[in-house]
Amino acid sequence: MDSDSSSFWFCSICSVFSFMFFSFTLLFSLFSLSIFVLRLKLWCKCEICRAFLDSSWTKDFDNLCDWYTHLLNKSPTGSIRIHVLGNIVTADPENVQHILKTRFQNYPKGKPFSVLLGDLLGQGIFNVDGDSWMFQRKMASLELGSVSIRMHAFGIVESEIRSRLIPLLSSASGNQRVLDLQDVFRRFSFDNICKFSFGFDPGCLEFSLPVSEFAEAFDLASKLSAQRGLAASSLIWKAKRVLNLGSERKLKQAITMVDEFAQRMINQRREMGFSDNHDLLSRFMGTIDDDKYLRDIVVSFILAGRDTVASGLTSFFWLLSQHPEVESTIREEFERVVPSPPCDDRPFVTFDQMREMHYLHAAVCESLRLFPPVQFDSKFAEDDDVLPDCSFVRRGTRVTYHPYAMGRMERVWGSNCLEFNPERWLKNGRFIPESPYKYPVFQAGLRVCLGKEMAVAEMKCVVLAIISRFNIRVADPNRKPMFAPALTATVRGGLPIFVQERGP
Ligand code: HEM
Repeated sequence: MDSDSSSFWFCSICSVFSFMFFSFTLLFSLFSLSIFVLRLKLWCKCEICRAFLDSSWTKDFDNLCDWYTHLLNKSPTGSIRIHVLGNIVTADPENVQHILKTRFQNYPKGKPFSVLLGDLLGQGIFNVDGDSWMFQRKMASLELGSVSIRMHAFGIVESEIRSRLIPLLSSASGNQRVLDLQDVFRRFSFDNICKFSFGFDPGCLEFSLPVSEFAEAFDLASKLSAQRGLAASSLIWKAKRVLNLGSERKLKQAITMVDEFAQRMINQRREMGFSDNHDLLSRFMGTIDDDKYLRDIVVSFILAGRDTVASGLTSFFWLLSQHPEVESTIREEFERVVPSPPCDDRPFVTFDQMREMHYLHAAVCESLRLFPPVQFDSKFAEDDDVLPDCSFVRRGTRVTYHPYAMGRMERVWGSNCLEFNPERWLKNGRFIPESPYKYPVFQAGLRVCLGKEMAVAEMKCVVLAIISRFNIRVADPNRKPMFAPALTATVRGGLPIFVQERGP
């Protein structure tokens, strides 16, 4: 045999072996899956698990979170068990305090969560526990706590509102053009969080509403990572990942684009110098050398700060469309605090003026209470434990607290819990905060959201900018929000609106 034909045979034998290996892996995974599903079906016959497995809950509820709310409301303890998922779901503030603060060490995010998002988030703060989390938390708290970075963030938001959001809404005003407000807010918050984290402007809210390759890759990567969690067994997506098939193949491509983009940003900073820049990446580069670690940290921030703000704003404007009286009160407060907004390049509202607007702050908190962007969040018990409501937690159990359901629980918020009522936060016209364990919209305890103040300031700025200049009319006011499965609450079909510029 000459060398060409021997390498031909060698390659063919390798291909046959690879094919056999892959087929075996696939068959094994499918076999394990069938056993897994069979076990689930045979294992638990309780009403909740049955309804979960055969999806019969969809007959009565549009959204999974509404069904959970119904179950949690009925439960005498405010907690339920979904046995087939090994999951305790709770809406009891004392349980929440126990998980997020008192026994924090016993309830890490855990491996089942971190493997789902691991390819996208790597070792970023959002996806790690223990020392690595503690290190990033300390470093990020120092950075985000500084006045200079808050002013920097405020400047970014202000400029995006002035140069993009307002011109876009003005252009759509009065001409019966339908705008999807959810899409507008997603573009808006993506521009902001990228400028804040990378010092890079993707320009997603430019007038032509361009397609940004980075935004698309990032969206796809977070969507497909979240969808891993919907698979009946993790074996399915793991097998697809090994075989580089279907959604896993797309996920890999999207993550490669995110990686390449992050690397370009890091290289640019290295070439240009980073000590004078305010963005997070530049600040972290002062302490960290490892490019992969830098990429992971910054990608976590983009994920944390992007869709959450857009989701909060979308629900806010939907609620406002149902409650014109709240809109009028916000306008009155704005006109009282800022009687003549500057028409030059100065900010139309200052940080201090916003701090005086207690009603606006209450309205934003109230909207997040009814429509929290993160509807539920899970931890995994490290050891056996007993929750304050006496529920026994076996080691390895997934324990979920559910801000969406908590906002709708009579025993937590009283008989008017379903009403959008900003006044519930006010005493003699002043905003009074609630316990974060009763209102864990930003999580609570040791891992409370690091961008909370920034996010609320961003939302308030947008609300003022829009309602002081425009009347927004939701195209279909009778359509209630239905949510698509995603890491953050996202309304199916978006929020189509008409916009009209207000007179002087
Ligand atoms: C309305 C907007 C927002 C909401 C409702 C929100 C909510 C949350 C929640 C529920 C968590 C806990 C998630 C978990 O541990 O699984 C979290 C964590 C976090 N958030 Fe936010 N967030 C918002 C905006 C932001 C913004 C704008 C930023 C960044 C500038 C940000 C940065 C973070 C970070 C870094 C963490 C991880 C904290 C840690 O693990 O120690 N968030 N947020």
